[in-house]
Formats: sequence, structure tokens, C-alpha cells
Amino acid sequence: MRAIALTPRVAESTRLIDVSEPSLPDIPNERGVLVRVLRVGLDGTDRDIYLGTYGVALQGYDYLIPGHEGLGVVERIGSAVTELSVGDIVVAIVRRPGGSRYDQIGLADFTTETVYFEHGISRLHGFLTELYVDTPEYLVRVPGGLADHGVLLEPASVVEKGIAQAYEIQRRLKVWGPRRAAVLGAGPLGLLATLFLRLRGLEVLTFGIEEPPYRNSDMAEAVGARYVSTKTTTLTAAVAEAGPMDLIFEATGFSPLVFEAMQVLGKDGVLVLSSVTGGNRSTEVPADAINLSFVLGNKVAVGTVNASRANFEEGVRDLAVADAEWPGWLDRFITHRVDSLDEYGTAYRLLCDARDAIKIVIEVGRDASG
Ligand code: BGC
Ligand code: ZN
Repeated sequence: MRAIALTPRVAESTRLIDVSEPSLPDIPNERGVLVRVLRVGLDGTDRDIYLGTYGVALQGYDYLIPGHEGLGVVERIGSAVTELSVGDIVVAIVRRPGGSRYDQIGLADFTTETVYFEHGISRLHGFLTELYVDTPEYLVRVPGGLADHGVLLEPASVVEKGIAQAYEIQRRLKVWGPRRAAVLGAGPLGLLATLFLRLRGLEVLTFGIEEPPYRNSDMAEAVGARYVSTKTTTLTAAVAEAGPMDLIFEATGFSPLVFEAMQVLGKDGVLVLSSVTGGNRSTEVPADAINLSFVLGNKVAVGTVNASRANFEEGVRDLAVADAEWPGWLDRFITHRVDSLDEYGTAYRLLCDARDAIKIVIEVGRDASG
């Protein structure tokens, strides 16, 4: 069968290869699930891997099959699989257990190991292939009505984890009732954060660089958020006008902004940091003022990455509710589709160059079960 492969740390080494088909007996104890990949979304992590600045091959391989936002259909199951049926639509959890205590309790997303295992990213092959086998523990069922938009579940799970962390931490305050949130970044994660915070009834300010109107500002406003361009207004000025922020979700990839966010965060506020910044930027900050505002204002900052099964399941529910609340919004989120694995070159080119792209999806296969 066909798959996309690349050599980690070698820029633009993507190629189409032929690999042997996986089969149920690859998984012990009749617990195998054979999944046919239907579609795969690409994101900034895929761009970094494509450009050779991120990603690790499996031990014993000189290539990595990329793609971690995979949606597929169950084609066959082992006799000991009761959780899933043939024809079910599934999304695979990305990170798999390593050796830390979190890995042992189903929370590999909190691993403390420096070596981590993520499908399509680090030490495990991804989903830009026709078939894969897995066990039901790592497959999340998506309702058939979400077969198309379900391809957004992995990024959705990452945002769900960040928001869930914020609420979990703020239980310490007994009566925390967030009303206003800022989302920094209007890319895929920023827009999903905007969507999910609006679903929770918060007033949301979404910050992006571009001046409105453009697709992403329209998307933010379509779910009732206010879009602010940092070309015309600073974060500090916009927050001074809107009022204190109970929650800030940072998803710009530009780390200096984190310190401005720390300053403008309201009393009792929580700042969620989700940008994986592999660079080495440094910046000067008003250290005393930031520190004092944290100490006197009960403020919290938390880093978040990846997601556990529970976050994927929250993502399924929120995507379904969002689709009912704002029909067509998730359709508009998927801005580009390429028709087959063969067109991977077009997909990666769009990923690097298309300024108007939100989500690029590669259509890999078709559900033969009808
Ligand atoms: C993925 C996460 C992953 C992170 C770091 C993101 O693009 O969506 O699942 O943990 O990259 O590798
Ligand atoms: Zn990702």
C-alpha cells in the first residue's frame, strides 16, 4: 500500500513510498482494529516536520510516516474487540505511553519523559497511509454525522485539554465564574479555542495580526467573538477597553507575547500557554510588575500540550454541538482539500504558502462499507 514518508530533520524530503499492509495479527490477543484512513489534516507541526526542524523517526527506520490528525473507518476487528464495530468512524489518539507515572494511568499527555512517542511526529508512524492497526484503547469513536468534520478532532482535543486545565485549576477558587476570555492567535487552534469558549458562554476577544475583514476574523465573529488586529491595537490597549480577562488562551507561536499576556491577565485569571516554540527568542520584560501582579492577583499560568482520551471525547461533543449551533462553520474551517495521497506535494505547498488557509485536509481513502 502507499504511504507518505519523510526523513526527519531533512527539509522537504517528503516522498510517496510503498509499505506492506498491516494486519490484525500484528496486535496480540485478538485486540487489533484495522482502520482505513479516510482523511488527514495538516497543521503547523506538520509544517515544521516537513521543513526539517521537528520530528523523530522510529527506532530502526530512516523515515517517518507523517500525519497525526487522522480520521478513518474501522474495516476489520479482532474477535476480542467489543468496543468498536466494523464501519465505525474513529480518530486515533496521538501520544502513546512512555515510562513516567502519568503514562501508566492513561495520561501520556502529561508525560515527564523527554523521549515521547507521538504518531506522525515522534518515534511512531503517522496516518498518511492507507491502513493502520491499533487497539481500541487508543481509538475514539466519532458519530457518523461527524465523519467529515471529525478530521478536526485532534486539534480540537488539544484545545479542550487547555480549557479543561484552566477550569480544573480554578476549582481552587471555589466561586470562580469566568465571563471574559482573550484568545491570542486566530489560526486553527485560536479559532477552535474561540469556538469552544463561546460554547461555554464566555465573551471572547480573538487577537490576530491581520486587519479585518478576512476569513479568520469573519470566522471568529460568526460565533459571536470580537476580532482585534494587533496591527491596529495592542493587547494591552484592547484589554484595558474590554475589561479584565478571566482566561487567556495563547496560541500564536510568538513567545514574547506571553509576558504581555501575563501583565494584562485579570485578578484570579488563568493564562493557558499552548504554543510549541522550538526557537530561541528572548525578550526583556517588566519582571517586578509581572511578578507583583501574579502575587497580589491570584494569577496562574499553565502550559499545555497534547490531549488524553477524555479531551478527545469532549472534543467530539463540542464539535457536534458547534455544528448544530453554527451550521456551516466547521465546513468553512476546512479551507483546502487535496483529493488523494498522490497530491501530497500540493498539500505541503499549501501548508507552507497559502496565507488564507485554515485547515488543509488530504483525502486519503473512501469508506467501502457505504
Ligand atoms: C499535536 C500534539 C502534539 C504536539 C507536540 C501538536 O501539533 O497536535 O498532539 O503533542 O504537536 O508534538
Ligand atoms: Zn497538531
